[in-house]
Parts: sequence; structure tokens; C-alpha cells
Amino acid sequence: MKLIRTAVKSVATAVALVGMASVAEAQGTAPSANRGKILFLHCVACHDLKPGTAPPPPAPGASAPPLKIGPHLGDIIGRKAGIVPAPALSSQLKASNIVWTEDVLDKWIEKPGSVVPGTTMAFGGVPKPEDRQSIILYLKRETASGGGAN
Ligand code: HEC
Repeated sequence: MKLIRTAVKSVATAVALVGMASVAEAQGTAPSANRGKILFLHCVACHDLKPGTAPPPPAPGASAPPLKIGPHLGDIIGRKAGIVPAPALSSQLKASNIVWTEDVLDKWIEKPGSVVPGTTMAFGGVPKPEDRQSIILYLKRETASGGGAN
């Protein structure tokens, strides 16, 4: 009998937890790749998700299309910092010897200058941890080669 009561209690707890999770989801606080897609609007002006998504080279004689000023983010998790060419790439980032893990990315998105002093990424930062996690989930889903929708 006690066992049954315990089981009932834990089912009730599980139901309550799921309920809380979906409320959080509805309120937009649970980290998710789909929220990250919206939050990536913070980044998209300066970054492509993958190589080769920049405009094609211009016809001879035409002026070159503007390149985004930040490096593309293809395969960013596990990538060495500063190895992808970009107009605004800094010598500080190139010399940083960073490999982008989820932890380092989290700090970077919160405050780029705290990870690489003197970085040219002019970005105010994303203050909420759950928003940063959503962006990282989205990057994981969309930037891995062979995966993601685009
Ligand atoms: C105003 C333009 C701008 C915005 C907005 C911006 N970035 Fe950047 N980002 C840059 C530039 C420029 C660099 C290169 C920095 C350097 O070399 O010091 C960079 C570098 C990076 C790098 C390191 C790339 C590498 O190859 O090592 C990552 C990762 C990154 N940004 C992610 C993001 C994310 C995620 C966002 C949105 C939350 C974002 N950035 C928003 C301009 C921007």
C-alpha cells in the first residue's frame, strides 16, 4: 500500500513538473533551439550560419557584395577561434587560442570582451542565461555540417 502511495505521489510530482515545464515554455523561458532561432536575430546582421551562404561573387566589373563583418559560424562548436576570414577579424581573437565549447560560447555571448579583451565584436551581450542557452542550442542544431535545415 505504501508502495502504491509513493508511486502515486511520484506520478503526481512528474505531472506537476511537466506542467511547470510547459508553462515555462509558453512563457518563453525554457531554453530551446526554436527560441534560439528568434534570438539569433541579434547575430544575423554580422554572421552567417555556414560558409557559402554569403552572396555569390559579382559579375566581372560589378562591385563586390558586402561581406558580413563577422566570421561565418559553420561547425562553431569545437572550432578554433579566429581561423575563418572576416572583414572585422581582430589579431586578439586570432591570438586567443580559444576553442569554442558551449561554456566559452556562453561567456562570449554574455560579454565578448570578458573572453577576448579588445575584440572587434561590438555586441552588448545577451544578459539572460536561458536566452544564451537557446542561442547555443540553435547554433548546435544549425551549424553542424551535415545537420540542420540551412
Ligand atoms: C555588430 C556585429 C556583430 C554582432 C551583432 C554579433 N557578432 Fe559575433 N562577431 C563579430 C565580429 C566582428 C567578430 C570577430 C571578433 C574578433 O575578431 O575579435 C565576431 C566573432 C564571433 C565569434 C567567434 C568566431 C570565430 O571564428 O572565432 C562567435 C562564435 C560569434 N561572434 C558569435 C556571435 C553570436 C552568437 C552573436 C549573437 C548573439 C553575435 N556573434 C553577434 C560581429 C558581431
